[in-house]
Amino acid sequence: MTATQESPTAAGAGANASQNFRAAASTRDVADTPPERVAAVVTAVLQGVHDAIHDHDVTYPEFQAAKAWLMAVGEGGEWPLFMDVFVEHAVEDQVARSQRGTKGSILGPYYLPDQVRLASTCELPRRQDEQGTPLVLEGQVRDVDGTSLPGAEVDIWHADADGYYSGFAPHVPEGNLRGVVVTDQEGRFAITTVQPAPYQIPTDGPTGQLIEAAGWHPWRPAHLHIQVRAEGHRPVTTQLYFTGGEWLESDVAEATKPELIIDPQDDGTGTRRATYDFELEPRSEV
Ligand code: DHB
Ligand code: FE
Repeated sequence: MTATQESPTAAGAGANASQNFRAAASTRDVADTPPERVAAVVTAVLQGVHDAIHDHDVTYPEFQAAKAWLMAVGEGGEWPLFMDVFVEHAVEDQVARSQRGTKGSILGPYYLPDQVRLASTCELPRRQDEQGTPLVLEGQVRDVDGTSLPGAEVDIWHADADGYYSGFAPHVPEGNLRGVVVTDQEGRFAITTVQPAPYQIPTDGPTGQLIEAAGWHPWRPAHLHIQVRAEGHRPVTTQLYFTGGEWLESDVAEATKPELIIDPQDDGTGTRRATYDFELEPRSEV
């Protein structure tokens, strides 16, 4: 980054993520949850907290520090970031137990709907001076029975070569490194973009303070976010990681899976190419 650019902050990313999250319809889907289920799940969560207090002999100063920290997370708008880093992987893992086909991974806080639609062979929108090694991801979208899926949507978004996402870092133009790629008659796609860098969750807010206080690290390995949708099929939300990538074995968000690691190879021109096929199950199986 150059000195003239505004630095992204935890509060800035958190505010955008909060606003974006409130706009998403899925957050209203739980209004009809029956009281028995609310009571069962919340009782179990609270029991986990109570057990931790007893098991670790938690003191009053520690309890009050926890309260102050929870307040700061809310005031800083960091709940969407915190939840997606530390909790979402368990929800994804639970839901994935009933899904066949391509393995899923967490959505994360940085998905934005309604990005530019692109032809099956395309380049993601990028700055004229976009940094990073050129990367081509190509493949096919199929039903789990092997039928190719023309007109499927490969909705892709990822961080730039500095680890920043458009829409959440003020110096990156809107829509950068995001797009909805529509597969061709054979369900194929070939997307040209750049290699993303590992992502560091913002360290200047309360989530960063917690990570430091606990002696953890704030890094996710470099990844591409992809959601694949096709008519009559259950969508899959996933991420692709890179062989040998830093933090692959210690992702702070615990969202890597061995099936999701690609190994792009230099094609001799300085461009790295990888193939990945996606398989979706029919919607009736939901
Ligand atoms: C977070 C950011 C990501 O890019 C991601 O994939 C998962 C979580 C976060 O900051 O919460
Ligand atoms: Fe991400």
